[in-house]
Amino acid sequence: TESQAVLFTIFGATGDLAKRKLYPSLFRLYKKGELADNFAVIGTARREWSDEFYRGVILDSIKDLMRSKTEAEAFASHFYYQSHDVGDASHYITLKELGEKLKTQYKTLGNQVFFLAMAPQFFGTIAEHLKSEGILTGEGFERIVIEKPFGTSYATAKALNDSLAKVFTEEQIFRIDHYLGKEMIQAVSAVRFANPIFESLWDNQHIDNVQITFAEFIGVEDRGGYYETSGALKDMIQNHVLQVLSLIAMEKPSKFDEAHIVEQKVKALKAIRQYSPSEALENFVRGQYISGKFDGEAYKAYREEDSVSPDSQTETFAAGKFVIDNERWAGVPFYVRSGKRMTEKGTRINIVFKKSEDNLFAGSCDEPVQNVLTIYIQPTEGFSLSVNGKAAGQGFHLDPLRLSFRHDSEFLGNSPEAYEKLFLDVLKGDGTNFSHWEEAARAWELIDVVRNAWDEQTSALPTYTARSMGPKEAFDLLARDGREWTWQPDVWYRDRG
Ligand code: BG6
Repeated sequence: TESQAVLFTIFGATGDLAKRKLYPSLFRLYKKGELADNFAVIGTARREWSDEFYRGVILDSIKDLMRSKTEAEAFASHFYYQSHDVGDASHYITLKELGEKLKTQYKTLGNQVFFLAMAPQFFGTIAEHLKSEGILTGEGFERIVIEKPFGTSYATAKALNDSLAKVFTEEQIFRIDHYLGKEMIQAVSAVRFANPIFESLWDNQHIDNVQITFAEFIGVEDRGGYYETSGALKDMIQNHVLQVLSLIAMEKPSKFDEAHIVEQKVKALKAIRQYSPSEALENFVRGQYISGKFDGEAYKAYREEDSVSPDSQTETFAAGKFVIDNERWAGVPFYVRSGKRMTEKGTRINIVFKKSEDNLFAGSCDEPVQNVLTIYIQPTEGFSLSVNGKAAGQGFHLDPLRLSFRHDSEFLGNSPEAYEKLFLDVLKGDGTNFSHWEEAARAWELIDVVRNAWDEQTSALPTYTARSMGPKEAFDLLARDGREWTWQPDVWYRDRG
């Protein structure tokens, strides 16, 4: 590969996100030669750090990926630190001077990528100053990468987007949704569009319902402060879950590229029925985990977690039913759920096919199982398809079987980090696997009505036991429609220990 000439400026360089995700991802790209001699990084934050100290932090954040000390130190030598107050115009002059010096020294050709690894309330100010202080010159490519949360409602997201749009075009803005960097999310389109047997069945004639589960084993850990302002609906459903849903539901793009894919995803999101407040309450449920025991281990309640209010009304679980009003999906509910402290970590999509109308075996033997195509996003990465076979031996009995494929454990271990893939996309200017404004905007419209309806509710928040699959209400949601969640334990993952 040819290495990319680029100057990165990282806002929030001393933060946790930078250390956990950014630096390791840049190092992986460096090891692969995607970044080489002609890149430099300016790290900025409020703290006063020296270049030397900063490089020490970089080395520490990549220690698990290091092959040799020389290589790691050579990588870290590209990093420079500049303390910075994002609201102070004069600081941008200092940044600009440093940037110009590094541009010459590293031959970065004026290409610039800005990472905003900090609270969204500063995005607008930073963008404006980058422009007014002349850091943006238009000489090379100029891209800005931002993290979630992109707003906390449609109105706040719109305000945020407007402030960025004053400076950057949509093509220059890369909103990270790290699920879109996951191998198996990207594989959804392969399974669907490269296989006529699935593509031809991908509609309401053949599919009974779709189930998307984003279960987490962990609780809120040390993120109670943030989580109290968010909750499962905004933290997971508004972004990750709706992104995945739109990939499953979209019409086939006429070309497999960013513009065409996004166009179809947006159309699908717009076809999702906008509920009234009462419909929102009927079709969405929430829950909060209370203490529980599992495998002899005790788990505390959400309200006992650090930085969480003892009478918190924040939901740690959300489930809902989306309905898509178009020809393909009329009558096919999309059930979604996501929660913390569930039985196991498991992100999965189940495409549940219809029961056969005419059952040759009715009465004489067993009921055939419904065909279910399961896409395992994580921790196991793979697919399975449940089908009916015949039980071996005398007589005639149906035997439910699963045809399955998974990436072997070696691949799993080395599965490229979502962030690394996404950063390479940024360098290539490919926004396919990022969230676009129209997608985020529509997702907020859909979520706001649920959130607002919940805020109006006075009844007690439903609860669920830590290490369970959520409150009873989430099961009732499907039972009401004569269905149930299709969920098989992840045997592959368990076997790995
Ligand atoms: C983040 C959420 O976006 O995704 C977290 O803010 C959640 O609450 C995380 O834990 C899950 O990501 P992953 O990749 O671990 O499944």
